[in-house]
Amino acid sequence: MNQQLLKTSVQKYWNKVSCGTEFIKDKKFTHEYFEAIEQFRYLVEPEVFAFAQFTRFYGKKILEVGVGAGTDFVQWVRAGAMAHGIDLTQEAVNNTRRRLRIYGFKAESITIGDAENLRFDEGQFDLVYSWGVIHHSPDTQKCINEIVRVTKPGGSIKLMIYNRRSLFAWYRWLKVAFLRGKVFKSVTDVLFDNQESPGTKAYTISEVKKMLSGLPVDVKNIKATVTAHDLLYYKPAIIKFFAYTMACILGWNKVGWFMTIELFKKEKRS
Ligand SMILES: C[S@@+](CC[C@H](N)C(=O)[O-])C[C@H]1O[C@@H](n2cnc3c(N)ncnc32)[C@H](O)[C@@H]1O
Repeated sequence: MNQQLLKTSVQKYWNKVSCGTEFIKDKKFTHEYFEAIEQFRYLVEPEVFAFAQFTRFYGKKILEVGVGAGTDFVQWVRAGAMAHGIDLTQEAVNNTRRRLRIYGFKAESITIGDAENLRFDEGQFDLVYSWGVIHHSPDTQKCINEIVRVTKPGGSIKLMIYNRRSLFAWYRWLKVAFLRGKVFKSVTDVLFDNQESPGTKAYTISEVKKMLSGLPVDVKNIKATVTAHDLLYYKPAIIKFFAYTMACILGWNKVGWFMTIELFKKEKRS
């Protein structure tokens, strides 16, 4: 499939339902609906707070790339950041705008946009943040280049992308390939064909470092701490115990599904 067709499929997938809203029973766009989304998300993904550190960006100009239903985006606004957000889909923009309105918040801008071609001038943002987005875009390298471009020299970049060498990725391989007799199907192909939108990718830490080489950034931190998804939080206790044991053996900070990447854009030399 060519890259433009793939991007259209990604857009169609996320335009049907923004992520994190699929299990919510409350009436769409009500206060209860948004509360339920937020409560569930931070129950399952509490690490978002430690990573984003929303309240440290009071008064700062930030861009969130791929806002989805706007759960993290609302945190930036609540924390007093001058927040801009983009997403590939109208559904995400609708969710986020309605959400802001219901809580009485005001953002700087929330628009449809493509991470591979950001419609912002160079060097604008104190922080560019993107959680679980750019691995869905056909050209992840282009997204990274764009994110670095729009960040101010000295500004921060915080990204989460999927880790291919993770318990969750191996679990997906076991379920989708091995148990269906497709033992030669790779983890990469399993994720590409079966993980959320079509064409989802997951990376190793060294692949990420390669994508960053040549860009004007310093790496502060890259790690992949085990998450509730790796520990199969929705499975029976015996399976969870097995996942927990594997995490302890293989390295708690290495085999998590969420690879968090913190960068600083280099200051310009005078
Ligand atoms: C898994 S959701 C994550 C949403 C949100 N960051 C969150 O954590 O809830 C992925 C989102 O990325 C968006 N997305 C995918 N490719 C994109 C691109 N090239 N540019 C902007 N958004 C994109 C999708 O529309 C979808 O809303």
